[in-house]
Amino acid sequence: MSTSSTPIAKRLEGKVAIITGGASGLGESTGRLFVQHGAKVVIADIQDDLGHSLCKDLGPEETISFVHCDVTSDSDVQNLVDFTISKYGKLDIMYNNAGTAGSMDPRILATNNEEFKRVFDVNVFGSFLGAKHAARVMIPAKKGCILFTSSSASVISFSGPHAYTASKYAIVGLAKNLSAELGQYGIRVNCISPFATATPMLTQTLGTTDKTKLDEVICEAANLKGVVSEPKDIAEAALYLASDESKYVSGLNLVVDGGYSAINPSFPMAMKSLFS
Ligand SMILES: NC(=O)c1ccc[n+]([C@@H]2O[C@H](COP(=O)([O-])OP(=O)(O)OC[C@H]3O[C@@H](n4cnc5c(N)ncnc54)[C@H](O)[C@@H]3O)[C@@H](O)[C@H]2O)c1
Repeated sequence: MSTSSTPIAKRLEGKVAIITGGASGLGESTGRLFVQHGAKVVIADIQDDLGHSLCKDLGPEETISFVHCDVTSDSDVQNLVDFTISKYGKLDIMYNNAGTAGSMDPRILATNNEEFKRVFDVNVFGSFLGAKHAARVMIPAKKGCILFTSSSASVISFSGPHAYTASKYAIVGLAKNLSAELGQYGIRVNCISPFATATPMLTQTLGTTDKTKLDEVICEAANLKGVVSEPKDIAEAALYLASDESKYVSGLNLVVDGGYSAINPSFPMAMKSLFS
């Protein structure tokens, strides 16, 4: 175990990374960990004040910088990648993490058409643009790593909103299809699917400011007991997939859910309620 006095092995030394949606939540935690591991990081987000103050907190401008980028805008994403290339001369890791939950109403008849398209615009089209502009510079370099944040909703239904769930399935499809196309250029493409984690997205969409209570709900629902699902758990998964330790891993949807999607407790629950 490393402490503040024992230096950690820097697993991203010399690498350059972009993290979209990096001003908050899972992206923020990943930015922190990437910088600790020696990466140069460009944070891209629409929350400018938060992004700038995070960068100030994490290190000097040579190490970490903020670029305003709406991932649904082709010119913003183009500018983001061009900025990174002009600053560092290369792009090793493109983490397409920005996302939106949209309305939490799970009923199809209550699903607003424009809202459905907006969720797809950010989650799917935004991820596509990030991957496209990254591929533009990674293909000639014949190396690179593209990551996406999907959700454990891509492998098991939480009876959540249709737009969000469908968009997260689409991201996994995009990642797998890209891994097929880009393998010939030495570019690895993977996906991370987190379980519920009390980030601003989750607290805002569930309309609560009580993070402790939300953590309790998540722990109650979780398969793995005695631990809390935290942003750092996703950052660690991203670190693994971004580092050379995963040099032969591509086309993977890494589900970080403590086994939640591997089990179905309804039968034992019904047995318990009938026989206890
Ligand atoms: N927190 C969870 O429980 C959970 C679970 C599964 C998947 N996810 C996914 O993780 C990712 C990160 O979410 P989070 O939980 O850290 O939430 P968050 O709200 O803390 O962070 C999301 C970030 O994305 C940014 N963003 C939103 N729209 C954008 C746009 N158009 N352009 C650029 N940036 C934009 C936001 O400003 C915010 O900083 C999302 O893709 C989300 O769907 C989260």
